[in-house]
Amino acid sequence: MIILMLIITLSSVTADVGYFWHVTDFHWDHTYMSQDLSCNDVVETYGMYGDYWCDAPWKLVNDSVEAMKALKPDPDFILWTGDNTPHTSDENVNFEIHDAILGNITNLLKDVFTTVPVYATLGNHDYFPHNQFPETGNLLYNRSYERWKSWIGEESMDTFLRGAYYTLKTATGLRIVGLNTNLYYTSNKQTGSTEDPAGQLVWLEKVLEAAKVSNEKVLVTAHVPPGVNPTTGRVPWMYPQYNTKMNSIFMNYTEQIIGMHFGHEHSDNFRVYHDDAGEGVIAQFCAPSVTPWRYKFAGRTGPAHNPSFRLLKYDRSNGNLLDFTQYYMDLPEVNRNNQSEWKIEYNATTAYGLVDLSPSSMAQLVTRMKTQKNQEFQSFRKFWTVSVSENYEELCDEKCHAGFYCNSRHLEKDSFENCFNGLTTSAAPFSPNYNGLTSSLLVICSTFVTQFV
Ligand SMILES: *[C@@H]1O[C@H](CO)[C@@H](O)[C@H](O)[C@H]1NC(C)=O
Ligand SMILES: *[C@@H]1O[C@H](CO)[C@@H](O)[C@H](O)[C@H]1NC(C)=O
Ligand SMILES: *[C@@H]1O[C@H](CO)[C@@H](O)[C@H](O)[C@H]1NC(C)=O
Ligand SMILES: *[C@@H]1O[C@H](CO)[C@@H](O)[C@H](O)[C@H]1NC(C)=O
Ligand SMILES: *[C@@H]1O[C@H](CO)[C@@H](O)[C@H](O)[C@H]1NC(C)=O
Ligand SMILES: *[C@@H]1O[C@H](CO)[C@@H](O)[C@H](O)[C@H]1NC(C)=O
Ligand SMILES: [Zn+2]
Ligand SMILES: [Zn+2]
Repeated sequence: MIILMLIITLSSVTADVGYFWHVTDFHWDHTYMSQDLSCNDVVETYGMYGDYWCDAPWKLVNDSVEAMKALKPDPDFILWTGDNTPHTSDENVNFEIHDAILGNITNLLKDVFTTVPVYATLGNHDYFPHNQFPETGNLLYNRSYERWKSWIGEESMDTFLRGAYYTLKTATGLRIVGLNTNLYYTSNKQTGSTEDPAGQLVWLEKVLEAAKVSNEKVLVTAHVPPGVNPTTGRVPWMYPQYNTKMNSIFMNYTEQIIGMHFGHEHSDNFRVYHDDAGEGVIAQFCAPSVTPWRYKFAGRTGPAHNPSFRLLKYDRSNGNLLDFTQYYMDLPEVNRNNQSEWKIEYNATTAYGLVDLSPSSMAQLVTRMKTQKNQEFQSFRKFWTVSVSENYEELCDEKCHAGFYCNSRHLEKDSFENCFNGLTTSAAPFSPNYNGLTSSLLVICSTFVTQFV
């Protein structure tokens, strides 16, 4: 009897553990070591695996996928959230170059992970001209659909050709919702005036409603995240009406949504949706990029960061996120040794002292991060740039901390600003150094700066 009870207890607490990879923002510079189209400064010594001033050489793109395969060859699936082309002006590239790059990286993933489905979404840099996704079907969607249909299924054809979004069910019954949030990005001048570009929002609500009726769990994935850019400009990435609409749709289906995974920021970040009672109800994760590239404009520079990818651990029976392992390459060290090495940067539950990565656990982390000097916030700040060598404590002052904390807690402009103003005192000295950026960067029009992400 006791044994039976023990078995019942154990089986009810033992998760059916599955894994999936999330890799994002390869930004392959096909001209590394020749024209260096993406490089924001002169490269003194070319590293085999890349340079902080440049986008990824093929060596790094290939090596990252090979390393994922060596570390976990049989995940349930892979999330790949876009931005595959170099940061350069449109004069230097064209549709065919972007398209070929997408083909190369698709083939790489197919050749290395022959039997694993990849749930791919496009990034703002994948379109040509970059950022300018139209509201209608176009050649990029057609070509991408042909490349990806063996992963996302032929049932995805209609919505993919219309707007590069889709839904499907994984082998273990998790519903994937792959969105094209580039349609809402403030640097996209083709949208912003219509209510629902490509009909995606109406569709999203329908899909979530159907998931609720069928009692399914949903994982949302896309490139540009809803929420506020934590650093430059501190405004939502998306046009405000789309950001608000999308967030309110999600808030209507918190029981269905078990997690959200985005790219675009290149940094390691997360946000937690809270309900009116202040409880965490959805956790959103932004994985850091493969490209180490840092932006530079008129003498102002963004932070350096190391190449990385993420392995997520979840419970197949209910979709709940249990943990993730962040892998990274210490770029200067790897270049010095002229040999690839991917290390564990951190495991999320261990680093942050959490039991799992559920919305309520992530909400506890948000609460702890409210204190600037506490260990969780210092860890977060270090991971944000994927552990590049710098003096984290000195570089993140009161305003910097408020930007990150409020970003993790508020996904709308007004509530973000209230939070930010409440945490920063007017008596605070003006930030002399903001994550390695000069203070004047803070006032640059965000629309301009975000074009470069
Ligand atoms: C990737 O690198 C491996 C060696 O690590 C090599 O065998 C393979 O040919 C490369 N693939 C491509 C497509 O460059
Ligand atoms: C990329 O694909 C093109 C064909 O579109 C091919 O010629 C080229 O060799 C590929 N490059 C790599 C690095 O795989
Ligand atoms: C994309 O494919 C659809 C369906 O096959 C076709 O009707 C449409 O003309 C294609 N669009 C482009 C730009 O090739
Ligand atoms: C959320 O659900 C409520 C009640 O079903 C509905 O009135 C509202 O329009 C929904 N909001 C959005 C943004 O879908
Ligand atoms: C780095 O290693 C590669 C082979 O993996 C070799 O071709 C290259 O010459 C080496 N570079 C240096 C600087 O040692
Ligand atoms: C982190 O997680 C990985 C599996 O993803 C595991 O191999 C490793 O032992 C864990 N490390 C720590 C310190 O918990
Ligand atoms: Zn990017
Ligand atoms: Zn992007």
